[in-house]
Amino acid sequence: MFKIDGHLEVYNHHLFVGGVDSLELIKEYGSPLFVINEQRIRDNYRRYQGAFPDADIYYAVKANSNFSILRILAREGAGADVFSEGELYLALLAGIRKDKILFNGNSKTDHELKYAVETGVKVSVDSVDELKTLAAFAKESGKTIPIAFRVNPDVSPKTHPKIATGLATSKFGIPLEKIIEAYDMAQKLDTIEPVGIHCHIGSQILETTPFVEMTNKMMDLVEQIDRLGIKFEFVDLGSGLGIPYKKDEPAPTPQDLADAILPVFNERANAMGLHPRIILEPGRYITADATVLLTTVNMVKEAHKNFVGVDAGFNLLVRPAMYDSYHHVLVANKADLNSERLYTIAGPVCESGDILASDRELPVVEKGDVVAVLDTGAYGFSMSSQYNGRPRAPEVLITQRKTCIVREHENIDDLLTKQRLPPHLL
Ligand code: LLP
Repeated sequence: MFKIDGHLEVYNHHLFVGGVDSLELIKEYGSPLFVINEQRIRDNYRRYQGAFPDADIYYAVKANSNFSILRILAREGAGADVFSEGELYLALLAGIRKDKILFNGNSKTDHELKYAVETGVKVSVDSVDELKTLAAFAKESGKTIPIAFRVNPDVSPKTHPKIATGLATSKFGIPLEKIIEAYDMAQKLDTIEPVGIHCHIGSQILETTPFVEMTNKMMDLVEQIDRLGIKFEFVDLGSGLGIPYKKDEPAPTPQDLADAILPVFNERANAMGLHPRIILEPGRYITADATVLLTTVNMVKEAHKNFVGVDAGFNLLVRPAMYDSYHHVLVANKADLNSERLYTIAGPVCESGDILASDRELPVVEKGDVVAVLDTGAYGFSMSSQYNGRPRAPEVLITQRKTCIVREHENIDDLLTKQRLPPHLL
C-alpha cells in the first residue's frame, strides 16, 4: 500500500479513493464516474478555516454546486459566494445562513437583484448602474440592503489570462479611481447600507505576493472610505489560492496565505483603529482534490502519438481544452506499475482539442483499463455539458468507506429534456 496526495491509496495495483476500490466503483456504477471523497472536503475546509480562525469562509459555489457538497459545507459552518439566482437558491436550500452569503456577479439580471432583496443576502455590487437598480428594488420592498462594491484592484497574478480577474482590463469590478465616488453615492441612498468591500484577483495562483499587493490596495481603500464616515463590517479578499495539479509543483497552503496577508491586514487595521472581519471565498482549494474522474479506455492507437481513447472528454472536464490545464492521470488498475511509454489521453468528443492529458509516462495501457483523472472536483462537473449527445456522468460520494450516488447519471432521454417539436414537425 502507498499513499498518493494524502487521501488516495494504492492496494494490489488498484487506486482506492476514501478507502474504496475505484475498480469496484466502476463495476457498480459504470463509466465514466466522478468519485467524491467527503472527508477530504471536510479536511480541506477545516484546514482553510484553521489558517484563518477569525475569518468567515464563504465557499465559492461555482467550483462545484453538487447539493450534497453544499450540505456538507453548510454543516461545517461555511458561508457562500454565489454568482447567480441558481447558486443562491441551492446555497439557501442546503442550509447556508443568509447572513453568510454574498451575491456576486458582474451582470446580474433585474430578476436576480429582486431575489437578492427578497432573501436579504449581502450583495457585491459591480457597477453604479447596478447600485441604482438595486436601490430602486429595495425601496419597492421597503428594505435596506447590505452591500459591498467589487473593486478592480489592478493586480496581475501569474495565472492563465482567462482566470485572472483583477487586471485593470478585466470585466469585473469598479476601477480603483472610481470606488470612492461609488461609496459616496451609496451612502446617500437610504435603502442601501455599505457594510463592506470586495475583490478577487483570480484563480489558481501559486504565489502569495499578489495577495499581499491586493491586501495593501484594499486597506488603502478602507482608509480612504473610513474618511467618508463608512465603517466596514467586513473586507472580502476573495480567493484564488492554487493547488498543486502537477504533483511536484510547490503550492502555498492556506497557512502560507494567512502568514503572508494577515500581518499586513492586522497591522493596517490596527493603525486605523478599525476591526472589520475578513471574508475569504475559496472554491478550488475546498473541492478540487476531493474528486477523481474515472474513465474507461475504449481503444489504444499507435499514430503520431500513442493515443488512449477514453469515455470522458471535455464534455465532462473542459479545463485542459479551455485553459491548457494539467491534470495528473494514472491507470487506476495498474497504479503501482512502472511507467513504460508516453501516452496522450484523448476524449471521445469530435474536436482535436479534446485531449485530457498529453505525453504522459504510464504503464502499458490496454482496452478496458481505467484511467483516473485527479483533482477534478472544482470546475469539473460544474462546467460540464451534453456536447456531442453525451449524457453527463454520475457522481458518487464516499463517506467512511460507504458509497452513495449523489447525482444519477443522465440517460439518452435527458438529451430531449425541455425540448418540444413545433406543430408542423409533429
Ligand atoms: N470569488 C469570486 C468572486 C470568483 O470569481 C471566484 C472564481 C472565486 C471566489 C473562487 O476562486 P477559487 O478559490 O476557486 O480560485 N473555471 C476556472 C476558474 C474560474 C474561477 C472563477 N472565479 C478553472 O477551471 O480554473
